[in-house]
Amino acid sequence: MAIERFSLEGKVALVTGASSGIGYRLAQGLAAAGATVVAAARRVERLEALVSGINGAGGRAIAVALDVTSPESVRSAFDAANAEVGLCDIIVNNAGIAAPRPFLDIDEASLDSVLDTNLKGVWHVSQEAARRLVEAQRPGSIVNIASVLGLGAKPSYSTYATSKGAVLQLTRSLANDLMRYGIRVNAVAPGWFETEMNADFFASEKGQAYIHTMPARRLGQLDELIGPVMLLASDAGSFVNGAVLPVDGALHTRLI
Ligand code: NAI
Repeated sequence: MAIERFSLEGKVALVTGASSGIGYRLAQGLAAAGATVVAAARRVERLEALVSGINGAGGRAIAVALDVTSPESVRSAFDAANAEVGLCDIIVNNAGIAAPRPFLDIDEASLDSVLDTNLKGVWHVSQEAARRLVEAQRPGSIVNIASVLGLGAKPSYSTYATSKGAVLQLTRSLANDLMRYGIRVNAVAPGWFETEMNADFFASEKGQAYIHTMPARRLGQLDELIGPVMLLASDAGSFVNGAVLPVDGALHTRLI
């Protein structure tokens, strides 16, 4: 039955940056769809509530420490996941930072930290995951959380938009390189969802005014990202590869 292809029963899904916002909610959503979740974040103690909530609700989740900017940390996170729950066959590259600032004020350290997290982090995690899947001769699905700012630009978001645009090209490139191994790579490009990253801005007068310029005239609800990610992560999306799925209430159709 077609509906069963959305099930994530028997799969192990690693979510980076799972301690807050989109990652937290996606981890819960993937667990509810049947996946064993490996919740990964730099501060493992911030994952306690998430993991115990999933396990308490009859699902299965573990927490692992992961800093996506460190290849060593990436390797040990996968080692820990492997030892406890087995090979990760779904990867959600969600960890990201924004650091908005006018172009003329951006220093090298800020540029490096955004690219190291948003671009190289996706690179390292995907490479580690894919190497392990290929070695085990197992298929997999990588879902990159990019942004509508990978598709268009906005003042003061040059580092962020550059990193997310690069994530879209990385998504397409990996889809081509990894297809022969049965590993699909797709991206979701969320519009604006209220999380720690932007809560202050959207609470401000400027933020409220901005919301009213958007086609949907509202922010996305975190739950509205679960279905799109499930489609790409599950066998329901078995012939979807190298795709970018905007989840933004049509924001990408406008000049933003
Ligand atoms: P958030 O700030 O709540 O979550 C980001 C997570 O990434 C945090 O848990 C943070 O600790 C983690 N993280 C940052 N650097 C890390 C590192 N080096 N290693 C491991 N984890 C690290 O923000 P949000 O909104 O949940 O962001 C999640 C993703 O969604 C990000 O990639 C962001 O760019 C993307 N996004 C968010 C949108 C929004 O409106 N909230 C819109 C479009 C994309």
